Amino acid sequence: MFLSYLLAGWELVGLAGAQSTYPGYELDEPMLRGQPPRTSTSAMLRFGCSQVVIERLDPLVDPGMAPSSHMHQIVGGNAFAATMPLSDIAELASCTTCHFKEDLSNYWTANLYFKARNGSYKRVPQIANQFNDGDNAGITIYYTSPGPGLTTAFKPGFRMLSGDSTQRESDNLGNRTQQCYRCYTAENWGGSMYPPCMDPELDTDHFPTQPCVGGIRSNIIFPLCWDGKNLDSPNHKDHVAHPVEGPAAFPVVSGQCPDSHPVKIPQVMLEVMWDTRAFNDPEDWPEHGSQPFYLSNGDHTGYGQHADYVFGWEGDSLQKAMDNACYLRNCSMLSPIEPEVKNLCQVPVTVEEELDAWLDELPGGGTGV
Ligand SMILES: *[C@@H]1O[C@H](CO)[C@@H](O)[C@H](O)[C@H]1NC(C)=O
Ligand SMILES: *[C@@H]1O[C@H](CO)[C@@H](O)[C@H](O)[C@H]1NC(C)=O
Ligand SMILES: *[C@@H]1O[C@H](CO)[C@@H](O)[C@H](O)[C@H]1NC(C)=O
Repeated sequence: MFLSYLLAGWELVGLAGAQSTYPGYELDEPMLRGQPPRTSTSAMLRFGCSQVVIERLDPLVDPGMAPSSHMHQIVGGNAFAATMPLSDIAELASCTTCHFKEDLSNYWTANLYFKARNGSYKRVPQIANQFNDGDNAGITIYYTSPGPGLTTAFKPGFRMLSGDSTQRESDNLGNRTQQCYRCYTAENWGGSMYPPCMDPELDTDHFPTQPCVGGIRSNIIFPLCWDGKNLDSPNHKDHVAHPVEGPAAFPVVSGQCPDSHPVKIPQVMLEVMWDTRAFNDPEDWPEHGSQPFYLSNGDHTGYGQHADYVFGWEGDSLQKAMDNACYLRNCSMLSPIEPEVKNLCQVPVTVEEELDAWLDELPGGGTGV
């Protein structure tokens, strides 16, 4: 297989055999199989952030509410709280579960639950993603920029939301979907060599309909354009926008921003790995043949996956990484932290909730809000 196609500035080569084609490519981590080789000046950070806490808080959608409407899995700095001010989060946090010491941001998504035939729910554990050995579960974070000066890093206090927890239908965006699930059909992330959301068979914007031998991955992509003024907006979305060509696939950062949102920001993507292996026995699946998973917001379709981001990089560290062709975890201007160290960063649980028991209902009742 030797596909080669151009995705607005990123040459996606594929899939197998690419490593020997591009000089320097062999230096990169093996996850690059199926990922685009960069142009020499483009940047793509990819790094793991361990879990910092799992709880029913949501400082964006339900500020000050403890508990919030549904459970989240949260990573990043220890300034995460029910209320997060529009100030410099990097100054409020003292540690982070992210690979780079400079990233004290917070990132969170819905959790996944399995519903047994008897109606009980169990949380599906997250596991460390591929190439993030040593991480305590968590979320993998990507930031991409097509070259020096071509994106403007977020300002202190900035936050945004991608997705809609009430959504129960497809956006019909195909491979430009802003959230998708990868069904791994073999252990150890096997079965697909496509970039996230690009596999026409194994990537779907709804939950996989069949058991996934190697687990389920969830990817959520954020918009590329900012109004240049507001750190937030009432729905946490209106201050950012998609390019005029429409929502951009990952990793495409070269779209034209609309006049209303003229500032191009780095493309942020989150990746969550759920270990569904304990829940793959067809005997445990619904008798009528549907799939057994729910998001913590009560969504049985998967379309309602969403992610929240509160920017918290120190100073101009993210801008420097974007402007200096940082690649994956290779970034001389940032300071890596060993997993054993970053895993010690924790946010104390304020809303006690059974995390691993069988439950009669989803925490918060799974009302879909
Ligand atoms: C890391 O980046 C530097 C500077 O861009 C480059 O010279 C080096 O080859 C890269 N190392 C790896 C392992 O990719
Ligand atoms: C429901 O089924 C699960 C899986 O078989 C089992 O572990 C759990 O104890 C059951 N719960 C109740 C309330 O029977
Ligand atoms: C995305 O899907 C369209 C058709 O829906 C296809 O023509 C195009 O090649 C796909 N792009 C990639 C990068 O796979």
